[in-house]
Amino acid sequence: MAADWWKESAQGIPKLVTETPGPKSRAMHEKIEKNYRGLSGQVKLFPVCFEEGSGITLTDVDGNTYLDFSSGIYVTSLGHCHPKVSDAVAFWAKKLMNAHDFTTPIKEKLIEKMVDVLPGNLNAIQLYSDGTSAVEAGIRAARAINGRHEFISCFRDFHGKSMAAVSCAQMVRGDVFSYGPSRAPGFYMVPRPNPYRPTFAKPDGTIDTDRYIEFYKEFIQEATVGNVSAFVLEPVQGWGGSIFPPDDFFPKLRALCDEKGILLMDDEVLAGMGRTGTWLALDHYDVIPDIVTFGKSFGNGFPVTAMVVKEEYAEALDKISASSSYGGNPMACAAALASIEVIEEENILENVRTVGDFFMRRMREMKDAHPIIGDVKGKGFLLGIELVKDKATKEPFDEAGKLVYQKAFRKGLAWIPAGHILRMSPPLIMDETYAEKGLSIIEESIAEVEKEFGYA
Ligand SMILES: Cc1ncc(COP(=O)(O)O)c(C=O)c1O
Repeated sequence: MAADWWKESAQGIPKLVTETPGPKSRAMHEKIEKNYRGLSGQVKLFPVCFEEGSGITLTDVDGNTYLDFSSGIYVTSLGHCHPKVSDAVAFWAKKLMNAHDFTTPIKEKLIEKMVDVLPGNLNAIQLYSDGTSAVEAGIRAARAINGRHEFISCFRDFHGKSMAAVSCAQMVRGDVFSYGPSRAPGFYMVPRPNPYRPTFAKPDGTIDTDRYIEFYKEFIQEATVGNVSAFVLEPVQGWGGSIFPPDDFFPKLRALCDEKGILLMDDEVLAGMGRTGTWLALDHYDVIPDIVTFGKSFGNGFPVTAMVVKEEYAEALDKISASSSYGGNPMACAAALASIEVIEEENILENVRTVGDFFMRRMREMKDAHPIIGDVKGKGFLLGIELVKDKATKEPFDEAGKLVYQKAFRKGLAWIPAGHILRMSPPLIMDETYAEKGLSIIEESIAEVEKEFGYA
């Protein structure tokens, strides 16, 4: 049964008592930005300072309460400060905070639970404290499993900001320049299928998955030195704009990897642990990866991530030490275990599927009604609205993306921009009433922007 612990704090939101961002937010932000550098675009575009979160709400220092469509950044998926998760962390914060990589009772329970919920024989596990470290561990694991050293990843995927993770990603902002003149040797990138903007299409214009696979075969043959360890990719492009591949892509990629003896490394740091309505996003396609990484939703806000490989590769993990300062500490294990239990006890996956269908129905209506909505995409609570200048040319409408983001935030919707693609990752506990509330704020903002640009 869906729980309603969050409903009281959600009454009447958004509740705005000043213009937003309010005066206290602006003053605090101005003060901090002198010394805290490299802030992201979303903060610069809307410099609000948050003080409190409860369920699907966030309250700023001026006393304005927002409807949350971001879950931090896909992180607090069961709602801010879910009582079961927060209590579990507080319990271990008072009892035992760190025991290095020694076994603790709470770690033993978590590992048992993870083996229980993960698909297939994904049962050799290491715990980390951020997504990047889990991805790095996955790359080390791949090398340890097959002794090869080349990696293929996809245009516009994101895997973190360490050297190997950046080498697997095409970071279009300035970040990559601090890492040197090129990505690390042996790391290659290929296009991945985007049904709205296919690189390879059939004569009727629809995406041609087979041609992607053919291209990968040729690429492996011609561009690599024949030593490809793993194909590393996101199941759904998150940072790149909530881009889902066609349903036949992953089964075909799995077959290609099997044919070539290449490992399939599935980076579910953003999409995994319930966000799309299944434990792993790849469950939608009945594909089991050889290596998977996940985080974000895993601890509902507490920094805990995992790298898991199939049983047959377990021994390779013995070659790459699991030891880290914070990975698998008792508070982290308690947060992850409580989060998995909440997903089960509160039927979260079912809620994500049902309300997710509502989101998509409503977003399709919005697309039909608005000249600048080129495409809508989503599974469960991982959603995107793509803005274009013209539905025929599909030219990205970045200026509109920024404005819609700011306008909706000003009206009390806390969310995430991504250029011309509006991204949404609401807490998975949300019901249709609040889903509708958030979408109507977005629709109203889109209509205003259309008016400003002369579309209506
Ligand atoms: C798919 C994916 N992998 C890895 C990462 C890196 O995670 P972290 O920021 O926790 O290091 C992210 C972060 O957004 C991500 O979306």
